[in-house]
Amino acid sequence: MASASGLYTPTLPNMKRRFTPSIGIYRSGFWFSEGVSKRVLCSSTVQGADKLAPSESRVPRLVSRGCKLVGCGSAVPCLQISNDDLAKIVDTNDEWISIRTGIRNRRVLSVAGRESLTVLAAEAAKKALEMAEVDPDDVDLVLMCTSTPDDLFGSAPQIQKALGCKNNPLAYDITAACSGFVLGLVSAACHIRGGGFKNVLVIGADALSRHVDWTDRGSCILFGDAAGAVLVQACDSEEDGLFAFDLHSDGEGQRHLKATIRENETDHVLGTNGSAVGFPPKNSSFSCIQMNGKEVFRFAVRVVPQSIECALEKSGLTGSNIDWLLLHQANQRIIDAVATRLEVPSERILSNLANYGNTSAASIPLALDEAVRSGKVRTGHTIAAAGFGAGLTWGSAIIRWG
Ligand code: ACO
Repeated sequence: MASASGLYTPTLPNMKRRFTPSIGIYRSGFWFSEGVSKRVLCSSTVQGADKLAPSESRVPRLVSRGCKLVGCGSAVPCLQISNDDLAKIVDTNDEWISIRTGIRNRRVLSVAGRESLTVLAAEAAKKALEMAEVDPDDVDLVLMCTSTPDDLFGSAPQIQKALGCKNNPLAYDITAACSGFVLGLVSAACHIRGGGFKNVLVIGADALSRHVDWTDRGSCILFGDAAGAVLVQACDSEEDGLFAFDLHSDGEGQRHLKATIRENETDHVLGTNGSAVGFPPKNSSFSCIQMNGKEVFRFAVRVVPQSIECALEKSGLTGSNIDWLLLHQANQRIIDAVATRLEVPSERILSNLANYGNTSAASIPLALDEAVRSGKVRTGHTIAAAGFGAGLTWGSAIIRWG
């Protein structure tokens, strides 16, 4: 089972024997040994640790069951909207958008094309299963990370149906906006480590275009629609690919980024004669995204480096040990500021923001999928991934690909 504090550690074959207790079961961050529970301590003082290459750690692994990322996939809508296209509907221009954000194009779900988020998500998931060579019937959990489901009650079961999983595996949605995928990854690990789950599909998919105010040039330029998926599979603890994580939320910051519920103003057909006051309630819908860009920017450059540093420390790594920095793709200036703080050189940053904009929960798996398929990210590479956004929520995970 996962430790609440995210104390997972990567394999270090040449040092493993020194740290492996003779007996013990790892549960919720504690070792149970000879009837005595001891908190797992991660040390960062292993001799020679400073000589470790990326993809290695100085902290011993202490999990009884591991999980690894074995397949990925992604899908985007056909309709591409450029900055010039946007300049036709709001007072903006390509130069302003690309300099301030790094975004040049985004994809938008097309009503004419009869596209849906569920279809995109199922396509991404199918590709992840194909890469992992796992049959849909062997999937035993589908986690759909989205804040914009096609169905208020959740889209995950529809994805499970679209994939043709015959054994009715559990499928449910996780709502955590742009942090959703990182939360989904950690949730998958918790399910696997807790036992009972072997193949977990983690999908990040969002269609924020449906909730954008297309007259607000401060926000409509940022967002795009997409889906990305990863198959997380149970494995031996030695192969474990989730080294550490760090997750947070702050409801206080919601005022800076929200799409809250509002009552529809239309009159009710039903009369109120004889019924309780205020009943029946009016039907409701959600307002468009309301964002204070400057505050969200400040929040991101403050908390994301802290969160990654925290997860790195738990895993016994530093910024120089990671092969790739993979942040939620919100703004190139945020990505660059975080990389500078962590001293990660630009050639180790994954970014596809220019082509897709901010795709919310999809942005991390979409960028990962492109990087894996292009051969940038290879088996054994260590990735520091971080999501941040509405809620406010944020979190990071230190993972190994393959
Ligand atoms: N085109 C041209 N001018 C614009 C545009 C536009 N699209 N948008 C704003 N402006 C103008 C403003 O009106 C303002 O003009 P003024 O100086 O005459 O008043 C000027 O440009 C500067 O506006 P700012 O809002 O101060 O611009 P800023 O540098 O902060 O950039 C941006 C705005 C790009 C939104 C930035 O703040 C940002 O990226 N913030 C982070 C947002 C983010 O990541 N949100 C998503 C989180 S993910 C989730 O959970 C959904």
